[in-house]
Amino acid sequence: MNEKVYRQEDSKVEVTGFEARYYDTLMNLITLGWYPKFIDKAIADIGLKPGEKVLDFGAGTGRNALLMKKYIGESGKITALEIGPEMKAQFLKNTAPYANIELVDRRIDEPLPYENEYDVVFISFVLHGFVQEKRDIIIQNAYRALKPGGRFAILDYNNFDVDKAPWYIRVAIRKVECPLAEDFIQRDTKKMLKDHGFERFEEFFYFNNYLRLLKAYKITSSSNHV
Ligand SMILES: C[S@@+](CC[C@H](N)C(=O)[O-])C[C@H]1O[C@@H](n2cnc3c(N)ncnc32)[C@H](O)[C@@H]1O
Repeated sequence: MNEKVYRQEDSKVEVTGFEARYYDTLMNLITLGWYPKFIDKAIADIGLKPGEKVLDFGAGTGRNALLMKKYIGESGKITALEIGPEMKAQFLKNTAPYANIELVDRRIDEPLPYENEYDVVFISFVLHGFVQEKRDIIIQNAYRALKPGGRFAILDYNNFDVDKAPWYIRVAIRKVECPLAEDFIQRDTKKMLKDHGFERFEEFFYFNNYLRLLKAYKITSSSNHV
C-alpha cells in the first residue's frame, strides 16, 4: 500500500473551466475515439430496466443520463447530482426535452437526504477523486438511497498494481490523472463496499481490465431473492 498522505485539495474531481466546457469532446479525443463505444457498453452492462429510478452521483454533462434514459423509458426517472457550473449548464441543455431527468445541485460527499428510494445509484469516474473519508460518505449515501435489492454501479478504475502496469498506464495514472486515482486503485473496492453493508457483486471489465463496472447489491431480509 502506498503510504503517501492524500488531501482533498489535490483532487481534480471538481472539473471546471475549459476542461468542463469541452469535457465530452476531450474524452473522445484523448481516448482516440474509443470512449463513445466504451461508455455505451458500460451503461448497457448496468442492466437498467424500464421504470427503474436512478440516482447519478457527479453526473457531468448529461451524456450518461441520455444513454441510461434509453433503458428506463418514460416510466423511469433519473436524479442527477452535480455541482460544477459548466457541467450543470451542459446537463440542463442536453436533457431539457426530458421531464423524467432532473438535476439537483447537491454535493455527494456530504450526507444526502435520500432513503430507500432508488433502484440504481450510478457513479462514473468520480469515486476515485475523493480522499477515503469522503469515499466512505459517498458509499453510505448510496447504500441509504437504494431500495432493498438495489444496486450501486461504480464505473471507475479496477484495482491493480500500478508498478506492474505498462508504461502508458503508469504515465496516465501518475502524470495525467487526479493524484487520488492511484490511492483508489491500490485499495480493495469490494472490501470498502462490504464495510458499508453491500453484499453481492457483479463485475464487467474494459480496456485490458484496467477499467471496471462494479455492481454492488444492497441485500436486506426483504430482498433475499436478489
Ligand atoms: C470526471 S467527471 C465525471 C462526470 C460523469 N460522471 C462522466 O462519467 O462523464 C467528475 C464529475 O463529478 C462532479 N463532482 C465533483 N465533486 C462533486 C461533488 N462533491 N458533488 C457532486 N458532483 C461532484 C464534477 O463536477 C464532474 O462533473
